[in-house]
Amino acid sequence: MEAKVGFIGFGSMGSVLLRSLLRYGALVQEEVILCTRSRDKLSGFASSNPGMELVRSNVELAEKSRTIFICVRIEDVKGIIEEMKPQLSQDKHIVIISAGLSMENVSKIFDGQLTRVIPSLVCGTKNCVTLIHHNDKVTEDESARVEMWFSKIGNFKILDEDQFEVGANLTSCAPAFMAAMMKYFIAEAVKHSSFTPEEAEEMVRKTMLGTATLITKRKLSFDTIVQRVATEGGITEAGVKVLDEKLPEVFSELFLATEHRHKAVSDDMGELWSA
Ligand SMILES: NC(=O)c1ccc[n+]([C@@H]2O[C@H](COP(=O)([O-])OP(=O)(O)OC[C@H]3O[C@@H](n4cnc5c(N)ncnc54)[C@H](OP(=O)(O)O)[C@@H]3O)[C@@H](O)[C@H]2O)c1
Repeated sequence: MEAKVGFIGFGSMGSVLLRSLLRYGALVQEEVILCTRSRDKLSGFASSNPGMELVRSNVELAEKSRTIFICVRIEDVKGIIEEMKPQLSQDKHIVIISAGLSMENVSKIFDGQLTRVIPSLVCGTKNCVTLIHHNDKVTEDESARVEMWFSKIGNFKILDEDQFEVGANLTSCAPAFMAAMMKYFIAEAVKHSSFTPEEAEEMVRKTMLGTATLITKRKLSFDTIVQRVATEGGITEAGVKVLDEKLPEVFSELFLATEHRHKAVSDDMGELWSA
């Protein structure tokens, strides 16, 4: 058996994941095999990684791979596993990255080694937490192999599947939540000043990075940062009071909305995978 690491799909997440695994030395290009639908979207990636094998069929990829990352949209995963089914012997290990796709659903058509991973778009910075859950068929060798790869691109956390929903909010969805909050912060700053959106964005971006660096390097809590900046009776404190008043409700709604969406996706997947 060949022991390549296969990647199916080179979209938003698949491309960041594969690039990061290669950049930080988790994988070498010679052990990677890739199949994606629109090859034109690979741009310079294939030519800058000439040792990587590019194939036109997922079946060929499955034949040659020991571990197979499926990085396509959730609704396309089932068709791809069905397509590869004859190649999926017990020594093959599938890794799915689709939030909302449960082990229970996948096991309706694939009962071999299966790992769920929730990566994050920020894995390219090495500052990320990848969530991992293996089923009980995954061998020690395979789980160690996958965990070693993710340890090279950042941190990882082994979780029970029922922790994935909230865990994904805190890791994988969080870059979007943080960016969306900053978008409104910046828009309001522009309304109240002569700063251009670009100027305001740059100021906020650098301050975010500085805040994250300070918190990390000095091991400070978020509460400590608030206390140190928002001195009693000062201007920051007036702003923090507004956030204290409004944000608990905003985040309560956010978690309800994501829970609701998660349930709808799970129901859809339950139907799709039972069909
Ligand atoms: N984006 C994130 O931050 C994030 C985070 C965590 C998890 N995820 C998960 O990652 C998965 C992919 O999301 P995405 O945002 O990367 O989606 P995406 O940008 O649409 O990428 C999907 C990729 O799969 C390719 N593809 C589709 N069908 C294929 C097939 N039959 N064979 C080979 N390749 C095929 C697509 O090709 P085309 O170029 O032709 O469309 C595209 O390259 C989702 O399940 C999502 O839940 C995403």
